[in-house]
Amino acid sequence: MNASLPPSGDFLLATCQGGAEAALAARQAVAVPGLARAAWRRGVVTFRRQPGAGPLSHAERSGLVFARTLVHSLGQVTGPDVGSLVRALHELAGPQRWGDIHVWPREPRVEGDPATLRAAIVAGLDVDRRGSLPAAGLPTPPGALVLDCAIDGPDRWWVGWHVADTPSGTWPGGIYPQGLPAGKVSRAWLKLDEAIATFALDLAPGERAVELGAAPGGACQRLLEAGLIVTGVDPALVDDQVARHPQFEQWRMRARDVKLKGFRGFDWVVADMNIDPTSTLEAIGRVVTAPGTFPRGIIATLKMPNWARAAELPAWLAQFSGWGYATRARQLSTGGREICVVAERAAVSRRPPRATRRPGR
Ligand SMILES: C[S@@+](CC[C@H](N)C(=O)[O-])C[C@H]1O[C@@H](n2cnc3c(N)ncnc32)[C@H](O)[C@@H]1O
Repeated sequence: MNASLPPSGDFLLATCQGGAEAALAARQAVAVPGLARAAWRRGVVTFRRQPGAGPLSHAERSGLVFARTLVHSLGQVTGPDVGSLVRALHELAGPQRWGDIHVWPREPRVEGDPATLRAAIVAGLDVDRRGSLPAAGLPTPPGALVLDCAIDGPDRWWVGWHVADTPSGTWPGGIYPQGLPAGKVSRAWLKLDEAIATFALDLAPGERAVELGAAPGGACQRLLEAGLIVTGVDPALVDDQVARHPQFEQWRMRARDVKLKGFRGFDWVVADMNIDPTSTLEAIGRVVTAPGTFPRGIIATLKMPNWARAAELPAWLAQFSGWGYATRARQLSTGGREICVVAERAAVSRRPPRATRRPGR
């Protein structure tokens, strides 16, 4: 961690999925009531901090859910060309030694190539300070002090800083830097990959997972790659590539048609159904409250038919708590208008994974 941090400033700048600005502001009112919403544009919301307020706690930051990244704002710079923007940025950022520089567009349609602009910003530093930055394309070291530059347009950047003390804090703009690799059966592979990285989930080989809403099978494919034994529940067919895997089986039916005793022995419940969040929660509740079940974790996608439904998030999370789970939630950068909830049983006495259990015990 860094010995000296730049001034925290009066404003925080949060980035989010385009369209999620109101949901982010509503969530802030619940999770960090001490902030007041200030300016906003598509993909960015700024909040005024109370004078003298300390840094937000990790719980407050993660409670924002719709914020992809949260930075202490140093202000905006404007200029007619890249050279003048770079000079103004360095004047604003001061002599601080940065552990990395993140450059990203406020939203995908904004003009400007982040790699080229980062190179120009790095070139504008004294030579001895350039050498301490990771080379272009290399990951941000965990805990690094990051200079943030959100491209607002060809003539305006928002400038700020944050400490990369979470996995998503090491990704420019909080956007998962991996693309969908070739050979994956659906984008759900990438969403689950981002969820695993974001929440540092320890899926252990030999554990058993059931996925409600499994077709065509990208998430199951990711679970199988982690060495889990996977059951996919879906009336629709799972891709052959997944269906043929020796550690996979499909139950071709709706979640509510699975007999309760079928759910015994699963360690993880994954849910990614294209139905209302209320129905998704009903289906998950049926599994985790079934007699004799003991899943240690839930990875749930709650798809919102419209943004207004985000207001129900506290009630949705309360249901997981009611089942005995501690929750974390985030709108993943690779997902759509949906929230990923990871719920884990507190202080679980872990059973040995099924593959290593001794017969007869
Ligand atoms: C977004 S897709 C799931 C993608 C999948 N997780 C993957 O990895 O490719 C939603 C799926 O939910 C399934 N679904 C909807 N309602 C369901 C229910 N009640 N029970 C089981 N599956 C359901 C649909 O058939 C559909 O295949």
